[in-house]
Amino acid sequence: MTAQEAAWRALEDHAARLSGRSLRDLVAQGPERCAALTARACGLTLDLAKERLDGAAMDGLIALARAGRVEAERDDMASGRPVNATEGRAALHMALRGGVPPPEGADAVGARDRFLAFAESVRSGAFRGRGGAITDVVNIGIGGSDLGPAMAARALSPFLDGPALHFASNIDGAHFADAVRGLDPARTLAVVCSKTFTTQETTANALLARNWLGAGEAERMVAVSANPSACRAFGIPEDRVFGLWDWVGGRYSLWSAAGLALAIGIGAENFRAFLAGAAAMDRHFLETPLEANLPVLYALSGIWRRNLLGHGATALIPYGHRLSRLVAHLQQLELESLGKRVDKRGRALPRPGAPVLWGAPGTDAQHSFFQMLHQGGEIVPVDFIAAAQPVAADPAHHRILLANCLAQGQALAFGRSQGETEAEMRASGASEEDIARLAPHRTFPGNRPSTTILLDRLDPETLGALIAFYEHKVFTQAAIWGVNPFDQWGVELGKTLAARLLPALETGDTGGLDPATAALAERVRGLDGGG
Ligand code: F6P
Repeated sequence: MTAQEAAWRALEDHAARLSGRSLRDLVAQGPERCAALTARACGLTLDLAKERLDGAAMDGLIALARAGRVEAERDDMASGRPVNATEGRAALHMALRGGVPPPEGADAVGARDRFLAFAESVRSGAFRGRGGAITDVVNIGIGGSDLGPAMAARALSPFLDGPALHFASNIDGAHFADAVRGLDPARTLAVVCSKTFTTQETTANALLARNWLGAGEAERMVAVSANPSACRAFGIPEDRVFGLWDWVGGRYSLWSAAGLALAIGIGAENFRAFLAGAAAMDRHFLETPLEANLPVLYALSGIWRRNLLGHGATALIPYGHRLSRLVAHLQQLELESLGKRVDKRGRALPRPGAPVLWGAPGTDAQHSFFQMLHQGGEIVPVDFIAAAQPVAADPAHHRILLANCLAQGQALAFGRSQGETEAEMRASGASEEDIARLAPHRTFPGNRPSTTILLDRLDPETLGALIAFYEHKVFTQAAIWGVNPFDQWGVELGKTLAARLLPALETGDTGGLDPATAALAERVRGLDGGG
């Protein structure tokens, strides 16, 4: 048996022994357990005290990480080895923020200085549209070329003091139309962000933008891409193209010129603080022993939930309106990276990998799906993310927000037994008949795990640390599950089939399609007037 399999078996035995211990029991062990399951770095506190695990479980998980060569794989990534084996590429997003050196010959610092200088020239008005200083920026991109900058722009809205930012990603023409409604094309900068410059949505939206801007305006557009010749062919001159490298995956590209729109919005100094926060988390990940390493501990707790307790989903609930796009960004990061069924060598995984990740901001989510989280038949562990200090928001409201966040973790963990519910109803004067009728509905089973990730405050530096924390958490889980977190072959088939299907919708010729899809295509044609 391999060392890793032995570590898995030991964990399975321990999980069986621990299965009778409820969260009430575990937390009642006292503050030492809570302290042992809480760690802090780079403005983030990771609190695992409401997870259904104990110190022995964490020891076993650390042993699993060591047996899974997490440290060696981490060092391979940092040294620029081609850890993305299916594409023969390194994964050096840490080099974009100074966490590790870039590959030889790649001038990451020069490239960063160049796009930040351009951002500043847009902000100062030195770079002008044909109608004057730029008032609005439209980022045209999708996936990693959209979600990261859009998420960060919303998270850092109090720091946005440049031109207004807009994002158009969907191939649905409604998105671009809505993004530019009311804007002046003569004072709007279009940033086409696409690593490959072949993505259907982005090239189609770039054409819409070119038409909207007016004749000859492609020259005023800028591009962020690793494919300068395609940009040139589109009409964007080379000196308006900000480069990317093949050693940066789309969902890890936020730190590069893919963050140009964000940099125009928040300015170079804030963007550098964002990078510095991520670089601090890189150093923490690279240098801290596994036992105190935040992303590693978080990854291991996730492995415990998924593989030892069998939970197939995670709800991510940021307590904060400005973190409303965080779920979408982390869905791409986690699920494109970990949503795999074979390991790096193409062998079926012996254990399930990435759980479903879904969620929405609290407190809004409390008024929608929290009913299911508290009383539904399926246990869905929850990750709460909150900032301790308010930024440009009413302090009293912020305390209410945090009280709600902490209360939800309590309710999930400890619930309210039927006996407690009956006693409370009795104390508030309910009749025995109502108690008998309603107590089962008002009972909360509890014993539902949650993690709290507490930021000191939501500012550029801490946001950078938070996103890097998630990147390293994903990397650690990938190492343990044995999957490649840097490829995304699962997005290919649908794209190929859509290209084949389009002619059927255009011409009505459904020959060669399977009967189910042919019928649907004919129905679509019938309903859209055959146009
Ligand atoms: O959906 C697949 C994907 O390749 C993502 O990984 C990527 O972030 C997105 O498409 C956009 O790619 P590009 O930046 O090349 O347009």
